[in-house]
Amino acid sequence: MLDTQNAKAKTVDMTSFNIAKIRRDFPILSLRINSKPLIYLDNAATTQKPRVVLDKLNQFYKLSNANVHRGAHSLSNTATTAFEAARDCVAEFINAPNSHEIIWCKGTTEAINLVAHSLGSYHLQQGDCVLVSVSEHHANIVPWQQIALARGASVIPIALNADLSIDQDDYARLLQQHRPKIVALGHVSNALGIIHPIADMIARAKAIGAITFIDGAQAVGHLSVDVQQLGCDFYSFSSHKCFGPTGIGVLWGKTQLLEKMPVWQSGGEMISKVSFSGTHFNTLPFKFEAGTPPIADAIGFAAAINYLNCLDRAAASAHEQQLIQQMHDALTLIPLLTLYSPRDSNAGVISFTVKGLHHQDIAALLDQEGIALRSGHHCAMPLMESLNIEGTLRASISFYNTGQEIDTFIVALKQCIELLTQHEKDTTNPSNNLETTDEYPYPPSQDIISTLCDANSWQQRFAYLLRLAELLPAPPSTLICEQYQLQQCESGVWIKPVIIDQELRYIAWSDARIMRGLLVLIISCQEIAMKDSNAFLEQVKLNQYLSPSRTNGVQAIIAAMHSA
Ligand SMILES: Cc1ncc(COP(=O)(O)O)c(C=O)c1O
Repeated sequence: MLDTQNAKAKTVDMTSFNIAKIRRDFPILSLRINSKPLIYLDNAATTQKPRVVLDKLNQFYKLSNANVHRGAHSLSNTATTAFEAARDCVAEFINAPNSHEIIWCKGTTEAINLVAHSLGSYHLQQGDCVLVSVSEHHANIVPWQQIALARGASVIPIALNADLSIDQDDYARLLQQHRPKIVALGHVSNALGIIHPIADMIARAKAIGAITFIDGAQAVGHLSVDVQQLGCDFYSFSSHKCFGPTGIGVLWGKTQLLEKMPVWQSGGEMISKVSFSGTHFNTLPFKFEAGTPPIADAIGFAAAINYLNCLDRAAASAHEQQLIQQMHDALTLIPLLTLYSPRDSNAGVISFTVKGLHHQDIAALLDQEGIALRSGHHCAMPLMESLNIEGTLRASISFYNTGQEIDTFIVALKQCIELLTQHEKDTTNPSNNLETTDEYPYPPSQDIISTLCDANSWQQRFAYLLRLAELLPAPPSTLICEQYQLQQCESGVWIKPVIIDQELRYIAWSDARIMRGLLVLIISCQEIAMKDSNAFLEQVKLNQYLSPSRTNGVQAIIAAMHSA
């Protein structure tokens, strides 16, 4: 893995790095999706799990399942020993001085909430501030906003440079001007892959007496992390982004602070004595672990860490760097493509947009080719707002990806761009007469329904939706405004009822091509669609293929038609 601070790829001996063998350790990588070999480029959302993790979970439930601590029987003792050994394993993984400083949480989000609400409840006073950067994940913004609101404090963002790295001059200025009580920073940006110079930023925060919290969700799967070397006060991460199970994550904090902090969630496990005359709380780490912990998942996470520890991590890191540079170099050559991620000092994420095309359309087409990547705001809306975009496509890699996969992805991406640009509608010529004409160039509803029903595959239905999209007339300028925009859709969707010849009709538009196809479908088949949207989607055999966000979009369109 990359050294925490020195992210540059070094000359590394790759002889022990056997990618074919590594891939065999991850059973899911041999899946086919839409009849194509899966190319998994969504590792920043969650990583895949090696067989040793799957086996460990299975083995735990088969052979040692029992509740931990306080058990009066052998099985419980076995489970407790394995569970606490997992804590020791995590402590060693990040070089924490004490295992009792490792607090199990549901994930990074819960870890940040814990510190924000517990530490913030006494450490933040009226007029105080918390510094974050503009590119933080929402998980490292919203909990601070919530506690700041409750305490009369504020959350102030550190600006970004033109290359989207954190502006260190602005940081220095804000430290001096606001003397923040807390500085909360992502180690690696989940939307951009940029590795922030956190050791230096922590030192500068400490120099003015601020407490430092590092969100390491995107770091631990790629970088070797040493919390003592970093010098931060808190560090958090999620198991599922580091080859372990979902539902478990880690908060590491310095003993002195954790001991001072009031309990957050309460109930069983976190107490030493409960009485109606007063309750006494447990010692660290249990004071912050109310209820039955995710026992199997902690043990599974330790198996993931052990797997990583057995890898040649320097070689794995060099391989990742090679993949990122290969992808970056290839994407740079694609016309109309804007890259937001750096080629170097990047922990595995490439974000980009293609001018004139909607990121969701591209992601949906790539999915047809078995390529899994993410599109949207990546829980970094303030960053998107600062870039003046709705979202990006994000391809994120891990050490089990291959150069061949990157090549396949690039070829598929070029084909998608070609397909989508070929038929792109010219919206510079708005159809301003749509509110008065009843000439809507859609096929009869029965034709549309039977074409979709008769299609042999999702690919054919998808292609037909793209063709239907071409029939939607370019929107009149009056349509594209907040009044007619549907809030529940991830892509922009506008719909306006109009009365033409005493008949209720709809003019509509979406910035995503697939949504335009769905709009034509729904408007043409409105009577059936409005009766029962789920039954309609089932009838046209789209229900199982539409993503939850698209299904929400369809339902929002139909709800808007109902309320017209
Ligand atoms: C940088 C960053 N912080 C926090 C989170 C939240 O992690 P979780 O959903 O596992 O709690 C994520 C998840 O994508 C992330 O990328």
